[in-house]
Amino acid sequence: MTERAEFPVEPWCLRERGLNLDLLARSESLFAMSNGHIGLRGNLDEGEPYGIPGTYLNSFYEVRPLPYAEPGYGYAESGQEIVNVTNGKLIRLLVDDAPFDVRYGRLIAHERVLDLRAGTLTRDADWESPKGRRVRVRSTRLVSFTQRAVAAIEYVVEPVDASVRLVVQSELVANEPIPPRSGDPRMAAVLENPLSALDQDLHVGGAVLVHGTRLSGLQMAAGMDHLVEAPVEVSAESAAMDDWARITFVCSLQPGQRLRIVKFLGYGWSSLRSTAALRDQVAAALTGARHTGLEHLLAQQRAYLDEFWAGADVRIEGDPQLQQAVRFALFHVLQASARAGGRCLPTKGLTGPGYDGHTFWDSEAYVLPVLTYTQPQAAANALRWRHSTLDLAKERAATLGLRGAAFPWRTIRGQECSGYWPAGTAAFHINADIAAAVARYRSVTGDETLETEVGLEILVETARLWISLGHHDLDGVWHIAGVTGPDEYTAIVNDNVFTNLAAAHNLRSAAEAAERHPRRARDLGITLEEVAAWRDAADAVNIPYDPDLRVHQQSAGFTRLPSWDFEASRDKYPLLLHAPYFDLYRRQVIKQADLLLAQYWFGDRFDDENKARNVDYYERRTVRDSSLSAAIQAVTAAEVGHLELAYDYVYEAAQIDLRDLDHNSGDGMHIASLASVWTALVAGFGGLRDYQGQLSFAPQLPDLITRLSFTVQWRGLRLEVDIEPGRATYGLRDRTDSTLAFRHHGVEVTVTAGKPVTALISKRPPLLPRPPQPPGREPLHQGESQSSSLAAGRAAAAVGPYLPPAEARASSTAEHQQRLAAGET
Ligand code: BGC
Repeated sequence: MTERAEFPVEPWCLRERGLNLDLLARSESLFAMSNGHIGLRGNLDEGEPYGIPGTYLNSFYEVRPLPYAEPGYGYAESGQEIVNVTNGKLIRLLVDDAPFDVRYGRLIAHERVLDLRAGTLTRDADWESPKGRRVRVRSTRLVSFTQRAVAAIEYVVEPVDASVRLVVQSELVANEPIPPRSGDPRMAAVLENPLSALDQDLHVGGAVLVHGTRLSGLQMAAGMDHLVEAPVEVSAESAAMDDWARITFVCSLQPGQRLRIVKFLGYGWSSLRSTAALRDQVAAALTGARHTGLEHLLAQQRAYLDEFWAGADVRIEGDPQLQQAVRFALFHVLQASARAGGRCLPTKGLTGPGYDGHTFWDSEAYVLPVLTYTQPQAAANALRWRHSTLDLAKERAATLGLRGAAFPWRTIRGQECSGYWPAGTAAFHINADIAAAVARYRSVTGDETLETEVGLEILVETARLWISLGHHDLDGVWHIAGVTGPDEYTAIVNDNVFTNLAAAHNLRSAAEAAERHPRRARDLGITLEEVAAWRDAADAVNIPYDPDLRVHQQSAGFTRLPSWDFEASRDKYPLLLHAPYFDLYRRQVIKQADLLLAQYWFGDRFDDENKARNVDYYERRTVRDSSLSAAIQAVTAAEVGHLELAYDYVYEAAQIDLRDLDHNSGDGMHIASLASVWTALVAGFGGLRDYQGQLSFAPQLPDLITRLSFTVQWRGLRLEVDIEPGRATYGLRDRTDSTLAFRHHGVEVTVTAGKPVTALISKRPPLLPRPPQPPGREPLHQGESQSSSLAAGRAAAAVGPYLPPAEARASSTAEHQQRLAAGET
């Protein structure tokens, strides 16, 4: 085991030794457990101290007004915000007469381990009370992948050197106070007391609380049930009020004796079911969990993950830190999506309240490509959710005076919740991103069901939107005016290349799908003329190019805008917190990969020289103020031969949350960025592309990686790709005589199950030298001592003071922060 950064480098777990109260919010996100339906932040069992308390149910939200100083037609009227629901994680402990609280007494040892194969979070605490009573506490938490409504905690307490009286209070608490919001727009808004009590059901050893929201009309139930084991008699009491229920266990133990409590948690919510039905649904989930038993729940969890890793693992030799990070990233992507069912995939998953729990284009553009190749069922479910919001998207398009469907920029339930139209409503590319995910699903899996049932309608309604948004000029060239592309530092532009190419792809995909399903197409009112118009527009799409500089223009005229003084903004990142949008918009400064994303997604529209020149031009102007950028820049850098630059970007993308590079991991994990680590490795160093339904690879490794292997699912087959310096071996994992044809560096290869094929890789030198980035925005480099002020700031913030427990005993995190802010150390 090597010791690098803050967490020891281990292949299959994330281990935290000691407990740094200043980094609690971040560790709560990193150690969040979720199955996509229930999300439990990694709060300490006893509830305090905390960074942000958090328990979430996918799509359980409250509505809040979106006030505007200067309202305008078509502005979103209300927002949706994920609710911190009833906390069932709480297990408080009284040791003789002292509450177990890490801020008091002596925390002799503390360790938490997120086990990526077991799917559990284990915590070991060795604590001495202020009166000198020492206990060991071990808790193991899981949110079940196999029983969607269920979570469980095993809590074991053991006195160490003297007999003690233990009082354990296991609780459900609604309406926990939440720390106030900061001025950063990426942070969450805060709802106070969002839940109204509807029902309590208390019985021996368990309870169910039912609550409702005031405006969104949703109801949720949370329940708990317990099993208790001890070598002595344990007495139990139960109590409940509107916002809490508590089961208390009391016993006295000698050193070496153990009290073991298994707490089963059940959660459910509905907009339709009655209070009684919801209460009973959760009671039934709990009975099911008890019947299964903890051991079996743990075994099911491991079996589920064995299956997941068999299809999704990325194995890396030569860089154990990256190995750990990519598995950690994939684990969180799985947690965000596994059992989300017909609900959205929020950009923070269910790990924190950041971005109010909204889903964005991140889901279709960053997460679904990974799921499509590794967990296609989860990708299909997410697209079915989008389809379930199609009527709202059609209403929105009508409000905007457009045809077809305009999906929301940010939402939980499907209504537009963005209060900032230049980077919300105007970011119409989300519609093409959704359409691309639909088309990709069919092309990668070969499964037509999704297209027949929901996909065609999405493709058609988004195609209709593009036709009403775009226009042919006098020469017949098709343009899209006045929209915003992925780069949010450039808004309301004409002919954004990414948007134009994505729209053209959307139009062609709709045309092809309509031709595949003529009957269904007729039902949707599609005529031959309409399909012809889609094709005409797609064929005539404008792709702005600057012939003097020989680069593509991110949008018409972009390369002729005034430049940005990057030197002056060296230590002013993210720029959105330091510079007015009006100035960002009128200059050549790029928040995140935009033209470069177009070059990756639609690479068959650019030649090699274009690609090299575009990378050179846009690298110098991209500041990566969005975590969505690094991985895409890794892919485009690798493609033009800058393998070491690509490697730095992969490292940065992989460390985004582990080292809290954007200083906001405490608000929740960057799920899309984590997903894109897979993309950076598989599409970057593996060179995976699927243009026009043709699978191809162009593997090349940076110096430090000595081996990279991964599996992709393609048309029902599992292709294993194993890359070493100078060669790649392709094998079909399926035990049939199936064959698969694809390209390796442009050459056709056919592989048959049981007969792997090895193909050679020759080094291709880059056409241009490695480009620089804006000063201070060089990618974080593996092992490098940071030279720039920004990088130094990042590193310091990331590593932070790693306090031994005794020094970390501040009375509360907030108080500690205040003291630090006041210069006290
Ligand atoms: C990015 C968007 C992204 C959003 C949510 C913003 O900072 O610019 O592209 O959708 O974050 O992750």
